[in-house]
Amino acid sequence: MKAIVVTDQAAGTAGMKLVERPEPQAAINDVVVQVHASGFVGNELEWPSTWTDRGNRDRRPSIPGHEFAGVVTALGYGTTGVSVGQRVFGLADWYRDGTLAEYMAIEARNLAPLPGDVDFTVGASLPISGLTAWQALFEHGRLRTGQRVLVHGAAGAVGSIATQLAHEFGAYVIGTGRAADRQKTLAFGAQAFVDLENSVLEDAGGVDLVFDLIGGDIGKRSAGLIRAGGTLVSAVGPSEARPADGRVVDFVVESDRAQLGEIVQRVRDGRLRTNIGHVACLNDAVAALNPTKRIKGKTIIRFQP
Ligand SMILES: NC(=O)c1ccc[n+]([C@@H]2O[C@H](COP(=O)([O-])OP(=O)(O)OC[C@H]3O[C@@H](n4cnc5c(N)ncnc54)[C@H](OP(=O)(O)O)[C@@H]3O)[C@@H](O)[C@H]2O)c1
Repeated sequence: MKAIVVTDQAAGTAGMKLVERPEPQAAINDVVVQVHASGFVGNELEWPSTWTDRGNRDRRPSIPGHEFAGVVTALGYGTTGVSVGQRVFGLADWYRDGTLAEYMAIEARNLAPLPGDVDFTVGASLPISGLTAWQALFEHGRLRTGQRVLVHGAAGAVGSIATQLAHEFGAYVIGTGRAADRQKTLAFGAQAFVDLENSVLEDAGGVDLVFDLIGGDIGKRSAGLIRAGGTLVSAVGPSEARPADGRVVDFVVESDRAQLGEIVQRVRDGRLRTNIGHVACLNDAVAALNPTKRIKGKTIIRFQP
């Protein structure tokens, strides 16, 4: 099968190569999926799990990519609840060969049915962004209707879904980002926007929840915005500062079939818009994942026409 592999950690995405690899076999409770479309998170080649397995052993050449939509082609021993030929989408294991390949093996619990009226490209754009946003707001952030939420990087892949979900839930949403992202952020449902390049973050005022997708100094200063009893949720590593009277949670997204169902249903009924910036075929994938100019929205690699 064709797959994109990485072997050189220092090279980053420039070290990606399109090569031939053996097709994966389905282990216990696995399915093999013919990948129709794959997402990619821009900094995943910095994650240790791209390079080692759970025992910290070198697993190169690694196939990156952790979100996909496709069709089940084989079942492993003991696998239930999924059938060959079924359309599925989901979140692949961080430590296994991933989704930038024509076929991948994945535990069945990490995927969900993809409804027939949802395109594979759309399906592949949802798992990481959608689940991260959902879990940040509703599990870790314990969002309640009427609360004030600040979403950093609100025009990005995760931030745009978090903004829409929080808005739908009846929160007052303040999005942040670069100056060029103001209109896009407001169009996703934020009531206010903080231009981090030209405005003062602290002018946003007190909030009940900060969802940090940027980190660094921005994340650190965000702790000071949290109202008493509020929460700073980070998806970019442990926060360097704590709210004076609030919680801090940093987390890594987990697969959840029911939540994937909630997310895709919102796309079907129009409550949620995807944030896809560029779609490329597999032969053009390495160039597409090494853009020479800023792409707004997710890049999706499409394997099947
Ligand atoms: N913990 C988890 O489970 C988890 C899950 C998903 C994602 N993540 C992490 O969350 C982060 C965001 O992911 P994503 O897929 O949403 O990325 P993304 O699509 O690139 O979105 C990030 C957004 O924030 C903006 N931004 C970044 N730094 C900024 C700054 N200093 N000032 C203003 N705007 C800034 C980006 O603008 P530019 O494009 O111009 O930089 C972009 O619009 C990544 O670090 C990713 O690894 C973590």
